[in-house]
Amino acid sequence: MLETQIVDKELEQLKQGVKNLLGFNTFQYKDSYLGRRFDSRLRVYHLDSYHAYWELLQRDKVEQEKLLDELTINVTEFFRDTPVYSAFQQDIVPLILREKPGKIRIWSAGSSDGKEAYSIAMVFVDALGEQKARNRVEIIGTDIDKDCLMHGSAGQYVSRPGLIQTDIEKQLQFAPHPENYFTIDEHIYTVKPFMKNIVHFEYHDLISGQKKKNLDIIFCRNVVIYFTRELQEVLYQDFYNSLNPGGYFIMGKTETLIGESRNLFTPINTRERIFVKKT
Ligand SMILES: C[S@@+](CC[C@H](N)C(=O)[O-])C[C@H]1O[C@@H](n2cnc3c(N)ncnc32)[C@H](O)[C@@H]1O
Repeated sequence: MLETQIVDKELEQLKQGVKNLLGFNTFQYKDSYLGRRFDSRLRVYHLDSYHAYWELLQRDKVEQEKLLDELTINVTEFFRDTPVYSAFQQDIVPLILREKPGKIRIWSAGSSDGKEAYSIAMVFVDALGEQKARNRVEIIGTDIDKDCLMHGSAGQYVSRPGLIQTDIEKQLQFAPHPENYFTIDEHIYTVKPFMKNIVHFEYHDLISGQKKKNLDIIFCRNVVIYFTRELQEVLYQDFYNSLNPGGYFIMGKTETLIGESRNLFTPINTRERIFVKKT
């Protein structure tokens, strides 16, 4: 057998093993993505084959946790890609507040540690004030990473000034008065209790989870990029079905609608990847 064939075979075996052992649905993620993540774990142990790594993984519970961490890339920021939030604030929020008299239901799908969900909440609190926002807006953040969900529910974030990715002061420049939403103690930002009345978190696997219903806005950003093309198409159809008539879908800056899913949504802002459900 050629060396590449052995590597491919071992990768398939590792994928099957990880799916059975950890319940992480490897077959729905791109091989290029999985290969990079597995390789990074192989390097830690100086291993040179997926087979050797699989042998280790079965015995080592700590490594099983580490691999799950590696597979769920959690990079996120408050107001990640600020122009998206500017467009959302200016073009979508006033419209939806006019169009939808009752509670506005928003889903942050693949919410990581909650910064996206709280960013959306800040935009609505800014538009409506605290009391009205609590009555009018419900934001659900979902993820498969349980640590992230706990972090989001706790709502406490530590800022490490320097890089924008870790510098919460910088990320919050979009929000004119961070002290309205956070209790700030040096570099520790704790979301105020009223924000937790607007945002809540729950475990949900986009691949196998129950389909959601009656949503007015879906943010699914920087998540499906790791999934196979076939699954992306299925998910876009799911999002279409989950949205109420006239609902909005906001995707990541590097993501695009593919195949049949292009017929399901009309772009509102092509550059910022904001779409409305076609009726
Ligand atoms: C890169 S983060 C994106 C966070 C946020 N949406 C943003 O754009 O900043 C991707 C998140 O998707 C989550 N994820 C990966 N596969 C998932 C799945 N099958 N179902 C739900 N969430 C998933 C990961 O755990 C991770 O927290």
